[in-house]
Amino acid sequence: MKRYSLLMLVLCAVLVGSKALVVYSGQQDKTSDQFRKQYIKNFRRTMLNTTVGDAMMLRILVESMKAKRGIEVGSATGFGAINMGIGFERTGGHLYTLEIDPGMVKACRENLKKVGLEKTVTCIEGDALKTLPTLKGKFDFVFIDALKRDYFKYLKLIEPKLKPGAVIVGDNVIRSAGAMKDFLDYIQESPDYDTVIIRASMEKNDGMSISYKIR
Ligand SMILES: C[S@@+](CC[C@H](N)C(=O)[O-])C[C@H]1O[C@@H](n2cnc3c(N)ncnc32)[C@H](O)[C@@H]1O
Repeated sequence: MKRYSLLMLVLCAVLVGSKALVVYSGQQDKTSDQFRKQYIKNFRRTMLNTTVGDAMMLRILVESMKAKRGIEVGSATGFGAINMGIGFERTGGHLYTLEIDPGMVKACRENLKKVGLEKTVTCIEGDALKTLPTLKGKFDFVFIDALKRDYFKYLKLIEPKLKPGAVIVGDNVIRSAGAMKDFLDYIQESPDYDTVIIRASMEKNDGMSISYKIR
């Protein structure tokens, strides 16, 4: 018992010591909630990036369903990936984010590293229509946000990898409804899915589809 208490004492001292060292050396703990919150607040979002409200909605979905393996189609500079990544870190899961533009992939990887999420989120470079079939195993969370006219193609490539109970989110489903009609018809009419269209943010006057895979 005495030896156990001593061991715990040493362990606590080491933990407190390493935190104190970070503070003392002026370094910021990039994995702290406070640092990440600030990083997200100051993130230089472009028109391509997901809105703050939508990104938070994605994170809440990941966390509340305790998702373990996720795919994002279309990373851009990683705003959504950071937000979902925080969720996946909390669930002990992993996110694969797919991006065709090498410059975006570089920026996405750098952003993830800056908040210490590089082990939780993997950026895969290339055309998602080619990289999706290379992903192994089953998935329980999907966020589709690349070429609007190809949403149905992405879904069809992902579908064999989906677990029952998986959640699929599609972005920009109000303003780009015409371009993704095949996708929207399918997820709203298929008996395999429950689907709702939501607006988590008014920023772009747009919305997301959320589909639950029943079987
Ligand atoms: C709307 S942005 C994604 C925003 C991102 N999800 C976020 O949360 O900030 C769409 C991205 O999809 C990428 N993209 C377009 N076609 C693609 C494809 N076939 N495969 C992978 N990425 C693609 C574009 O280069 C662009 O960066």
